[in-house]
Amino acid sequence: LPQITFFEEKKFQGRCYNCSSECADLHTHFSRCNSIRVESGFWVVYERPNYMGHQYVLSPGEYPDYQYWLGINDTIQSCRIIRHVGSSWRMKVWEKPNFEGESLELTNNMPTFHELWQSRDIHSCKVFEGAWIFYEHPNYRGRQMLLERGEYRRYSEWGGRKPTVGSIRRVTN
Ligand SMILES: *[C@@H]1O[C@H](CO)[C@@H](O)[C@H](O)[C@H]1NC(C)=O
Ligand SMILES: *[C@@H]1O[C@H](CO)[C@@H](O)[C@H](O)[C@H]1NC(C)=O
Repeated sequence: LPQITFFEEKKFQGRCYNCSSECADLHTHFSRCNSIRVESGFWVVYERPNYMGHQYVLSPGEYPDYQYWLGINDTIQSCRIIRHVGSSWRMKVWEKPNFEGESLELTNNMPTFHELWQSRDIHSCKVFEGAWIFYEHPNYRGRQMLLERGEYRRYSEWGGRKPTVGSIRRVTN
């Protein structure tokens, strides 16, 4: 069974809440979250209720304070399980919306995406296998955007505020 535990204080102290399925509004269970333990499963937690705001993708492990999940602060208000993590990864990205223009197929992590893709902008993509994360900045920094198997015709469909992608990582252990 997947399980994630949210703690109000750093280093797994204070009140905690165990969760084993998706939750659209966590604020009735805790008001702040300063550490997390992921017992099993892959999760995406959100800064705001109803799966909105900043996203943070978590694999099994321990996160003794919010910097470990690249959090901007101690606010987490919804969470869900990533269902198809997979054991192989393949996606294709396009420079224009609706799968038009130049494209590139990816099967591996890309810490410095601009070295391969001059414009840095991705306007549409298809995920064939695995789950992936787009990061706003190179070297897996800045805002995270989870992409699961499916088609994304424009960047707003993966929750992007703009098309710029600095780095790309596969969701894996
Ligand atoms: C939460 O889960 C952990 C690990 O399974 C367990 O040790 C702990 O007692 C649980 N806490 C609560 C409040 O249910
Ligand atoms: C966390 O950051 C967001 C975005 O900057 C902000 O809206 C929110 O008020 C902050 N929460 C806390 C508790 O500081």
